[in-house]
Amino acid sequence: MSRVVVTGRVPEAALEKLRAEHEVDAWTGTESIGREELLARVAGADAIVSLLTERIDDELLDAAGPQLKVVSNVAVGYDNIDVPACTGRGITATNTPGVLTEATADIAFGLILMATRRLGEGERLIRAGQSWKWGMFFLLGSSLQGKTLGVVGMGGIGQATARRAKAFGMEIVYQSRSEIDPAIAAELGARRVELDELLAVSDVVSLHCPYGPNTHHLIGPEELAAMKDTAYLVNTARGPIVDEAALATALRTGVIAGAGLDVFEKEPQVYPELLELENVVLVPHLGSATVETRTAMAVLAADNTLAVLRGEQPPRPIGQ
Ligand code: GLV
Ligand code: GLV
Repeated sequence: MSRVVVTGRVPEAALEKLRAEHEVDAWTGTESIGREELLARVAGADAIVSLLTERIDDELLDAAGPQLKVVSNVAVGYDNIDVPACTGRGITATNTPGVLTEATADIAFGLILMATRRLGEGERLIRAGQSWKWGMFFLLGSSLQGKTLGVVGMGGIGQATARRAKAFGMEIVYQSRSEIDPAIAAELGARRVELDELLAVSDVVSLHCPYGPNTHHLIGPEELAAMKDTAYLVNTARGPIVDEAALATALRTGVIAGAGLDVFEKEPQVYPELLELENVVLVPHLGSATVETRTAMAVLAADNTLAVLRGEQPPRPIGQ
C-alpha cells in the first residue's frame, strides 16, 4: 500500500479507485488547501493527485520526500507543475487531456455567443430592473454566419471549437505549432496561418494554446491592435496568455468589439477595469465544469496514479 495525497475535493468515483489499492489522504475542505497544510500533508506521499490551484514546485517536492513517484494533475493544463523539477527527480507527472475537450469547447462557444450577441449585457439590464422593450436597434450584436474564427492552438480543444464554428457557418483559420491531421483540416475547411494573418482576418479569435514562457502575454497591445475593430477575443485557455490591462484598454477604446473570458491573469482576481466594461463577458473558469467531465478527469488522474504505482506506463504522462 502506498500513500496517496489528494490536494482537494474530487469526485468519489476517483477516490474509490484509489482507496481500493492504497491509503488515501484527501483534503476535504471546501476552501483550497493552504500552502502550509499542503506541505505538511505531502510528507511521505508516494503519489500526489493535484488540482490546478496547487503549485507543485521544488519546495513541495522536497516536503514530500524522495519516495514520491507521481504527480497527477486533475487538469489538462499543467502550468502549475514544475515538470523539469519532477523529471529531474525521476517523478512522473501526468495530466487529463481528451476527457474535457468537448466541455471546454462548449464554454468557448458559449462565450463566443454571449459576447457577439450581447447576452450578458441583456441579462444584466433585466436584472437591474431597467425598462426595456423590443426595438429595431436594441442591443444589436454581430452574426457569426460567414465570419471567420481564428483558433490559436489547434489541439483537441481548438479543433472541437472549430467544429462548432463550422456548424454555425463560420470559416476557420488556425495557428498551431504543428500541422493537424489533413483529413480533419479538410473536413473543417481549416487553413493554417501565422498569428499575424490570423489576427488580421478573424472576426473571433479563440485561444486554445497551453500557457508557458512562449505564450505569456501572447495577446498584448500590438496583437489587439492587429485585430479588426469589429472582432472579439475569447480565452478559455489560461489567463496570462492575454495582457489583461492591454485588453481592458482595447475594449474601452474600441480597438476590438468585445471579449469573453473564462480564465484570468491573476485568478481568481479580475483586472478591475474589466468589471466596469459592458463589452466583456466574465465567467469563473468553468471550462471543464460539468459533473460528467469532472468525474472523467478525476478518474483519469486516478488511473494515471495507479499505473505509476504499479510500475506501469500511465495513460497520460506529460511530455512523453
Ligand atoms: C482546466 O483549466 C484544465 O486545464 O483542465
Ligand atoms: C485537450 O484535450 C487538448 O489537447 O487541447
